[in-house]
Amino acid sequence: MASHSRVTALCLMLAALVIRAVGADEASMLKSCWNAKYNSRPIRFEEWTSGHPVRLYMVDAWWSPRRNSFPLTIFTMMSLDRLNMLESQCRGYIGPISAAVYIPLVLDHDPNLGDDFNTTHDVENGDDHHGFGRNDGNGGGNGDSDSDDDGDGDGGEGDKAATTVLVRRRYIREANRENPVALARAKLKNLFNQMEEEAARAAANKSIPGCCCQLRLMLLAERMSDSPLASIMPTNAMRNAAMLGATTPLSAMLDVDLAPCMNLNALVQNATWVQGISEYTTRPSICIPPAWETKGHLQPSTKNEVVQRAITGTKADVLDMWSRSELQVFQVNVCKHCHKTFDHARWSKEDMPYTVQHTLGFEPWGILWRLRDPGYDERFRGWLYDKQTHVEALARKHRYTFTVLPDLWVLHRPHKKVAIVQIYRKSANTTGEGSGDVEALLRPIVLSNGKNTTVYTAYRHHMDSMRRNLRSSFAAHKPYEPQQNAQFLHCKSVLPWWQQQA
Ligand SMILES: *[C@@H]1O[C@H](CO)[C@@H](O)[C@H](O)[C@H]1NC(C)=O
Ligand SMILES: *[C@@H]1O[C@H](CO)[C@@H](O)[C@H](O)[C@H]1NC(C)=O
Ligand SMILES: *[C@@H]1O[C@H](CO)[C@@H](O)[C@H](O)[C@H]1NC(C)=O
Ligand SMILES: *[C@@H]1O[C@H](CO)[C@@H](O)[C@H](O)[C@H]1NC(C)=O
Ligand SMILES: *[C@@H]1O[C@H](CO)[C@@H](O)[C@H](O)[C@H]1NC(C)=O
Repeated sequence: MASHSRVTALCLMLAALVIRAVGADEASMLKSCWNAKYNSRPIRFEEWTSGHPVRLYMVDAWWSPRRNSFPLTIFTMMSLDRLNMLESQCRGYIGPISAAVYIPLVLDHDPNLGDDFNTTHDVENGDDHHGFGRNDGNGGGNGDSDSDDDGDGDGGEGDKAATTVLVRRRYIREANRENPVALARAKLKNLFNQMEEEAARAAANKSIPGCCCQLRLMLLAERMSDSPLASIMPTNAMRNAAMLGATTPLSAMLDVDLAPCMNLNALVQNATWVQGISEYTTRPSICIPPAWETKGHLQPSTKNEVVQRAITGTKADVLDMWSRSELQVFQVNVCKHCHKTFDHARWSKEDMPYTVQHTLGFEPWGILWRLRDPGYDERFRGWLYDKQTHVEALARKHRYTFTVLPDLWVLHRPHKKVAIVQIYRKSANTTGEGSGDVEALLRPIVLSNGKNTTVYTAYRHHMDSMRRNLRSSFAAHKPYEPQQNAQFLHCKSVLPWWQQQA
């Protein structure tokens, strides 16, 4: 559809953007634009439900100085206990990954926590020996033991590296026992350094396979005066923050528990493919890969092995694993309409991209033309409707079409369900692992209108009514603007890589 001259113009733009050198400045630009508009007043649960924007402080940012030559940035957000999943993503993708990591600071016990944020001095915590170990304590203060230990099995560190990690872990524990911010910062810094070191080692030695993504990492802290919000992450505000670290013409939000197939690394180096995707995304269209997960009955170790095979294998391998019931369509048991729109039977036969009609509740991940991503509605916290709302806005406000990609797929890595989802799916366990978070959500609260309820019920009520309002606005063609905080908007207006025209 696009004319030849349009395509040429796009290619020139791609080239110009890709050549843009990445330097050490980006991290400090990001930090200073974000924190310039920071309001340090702690938030309360009912401030959120009455529409107050999120207030996050960017504690620190790290930006890989390695040069990027690929046209796609993956961006993602997570709580601190999922750093191991970010590490897996980073080992799997050769291009840039921008990640925002969240820590809640509940001021019940320590009213001064984070008070020094506005002084913005760079606390170095003494040394470079901080480390991150995949199983060390969940220091983030969110008490989340949502263990992903049954998650990825592809850590693959050598013995020497493992020893270093152990030593580093001890330093973290000793140095930062009572300071969740310093602890989180140390863990992120260590992951960042580790990825850089391994990339350098791999680059210097041809017999080591290439590693790793060019990581852009942000640590964001939220001060809250009461605890309910601590287990209701500002999911969409975090996605917007992470999006700021995307610099390339194309970007894709991929939740941290998702692994793109390795074929992506070949595709982003394939000029024909990149040109095709650029044409679709500027139409505009969101280019969507189907998501798969392992079958529930499999043992955890088998699940990891299945995920690994599905990531590294060919499309034929994936289809074979589907037919042998090792894989299934993502969430097919719990939410049939969420991914049904892909028409997986058709996907299995297609080798050309095809268009599908948006259906209510459709929840794909996908690639967008970065400058045309309208961003996420930050009123949605936690794990309900956050992504659907974005997809719905693309379809109904911005008139996006949906292009299914025949040669790309993503795998969901198994992990324990987060507390909100457990309760939502009525599978909550108030005695097992991660029960602290479930309990926090089931705790009674008395709202300012005198209503006696639980955190979860109040949360659910708020989310449901927002979604209803949103859907009726779309249906009536009423104007809809996502809520986006002043810090995000300010950064978007000043960061040099956000100044091009869409
Ligand atoms: C930081 O912010 C707090 C609350 O807004 C204020 O009381 C304090 O004086 C500020 N500190 C500095 C060093 O600006
Ligand atoms: C390169 O890596 C291989 C495999 O890990 C290792 O055996 C070899 O010693 C390395 N070479 C150098 C020069 O470091
Ligand atoms: C590059 O991508 C195009 C379009 O997806 C595909 O037809 C072609 O086979 C790919 N080339 C290589 C070398 O993989
Ligand atoms: C709840 O957790 C306990 C302790 O881990 C476990 O024994 C029990 O089987 C779990 N129940 C459900 C329904 O998952
Ligand atoms: C609210 O409900 C809880 C549990 O149902 C009860 O223990 C508490 O006393 C109630 N509080 C008020 C103010 O009604």
